[in-house]
Amino acid sequence: MATAAELAQLPERPEAPRQTTQFRTTRPQIVGADAPESPFPILLAGPVQRGFGRGGKELGCPTANLPDESITPISSVAKTGVYYGYAQVLPSKDGKTELCQDDIRVHPMVMSLGWNPFYKNEVLTAEIHIMHEFRSDFYGYDMNALVLGYIRPELDYTSREALIEDIEVDKRVALNSLNRPEYEKYKKDLHFDLSCTIASS
Ligand SMILES: Cc1cc2nc3c(=O)[nH]c(=O)nc-3n(C[C@H](O)[C@H](O)[C@H](O)COP(=O)(O)O)c2cc1C
Repeated sequence: MATAAELAQLPERPEAPRQTTQFRTTRPQIVGADAPESPFPILLAGPVQRGFGRGGKELGCPTANLPDESITPISSVAKTGVYYGYAQVLPSKDGKTELCQDDIRVHPMVMSLGWNPFYKNEVLTAEIHIMHEFRSDFYGYDMNALVLGYIRPELDYTSREALIEDIEVDKRVALNSLNRPEYEKYKKDLHFDLSCTIASS
């Protein structure tokens, strides 16, 4: 298996398989073993960067991007694809924050690692969609994430609607997969800052 970092060294982006109706109708609703297995858990941390902004506007799924150096812990050991886990946006250190107490809890997340074949990006990115309704943007804030499992490969799509539909399934699969005791306990992992919040139940 080639890691995302190895694929990023190739002169051309690898072709992604096309999503098919059969893939959509046969997707499992829960993935991974009953407890995270190597290489998981993978810890990621860094300041949230702006992507192209299409996630929120076009897909109804805003994503928080991490800088290149922050994605090495996963890109150097794992393949491209969609992953699940937990993430937390941290309050700014100067105490001035637009985020409310609910925003800075540990929340479930889905993450896309790759080149977004549908949009034909040239640069490898890790985009995290946190499953929580934030009241404001949080660009520039620090984010911690724990990746606990793999959902599916990155796919190419013939329509935006099909991509949106698959992302909705990804979110359900992530919640089902996290809803197991050996995954839930990572919500209280020391990687997260639990001093400023009580982990959401
Ligand atoms: C859970 C999840 C799954 C995704 N799966 C794919 C995929 O299979 N293929 C793809 O081209 N892009 C996929 N994307 C990436 C979206 O295309 C991406 O978030 C979108 O391009 C918005 O990026 P932007 O905010 O940088 O514009 C996925 C994103 C998320 C959050």
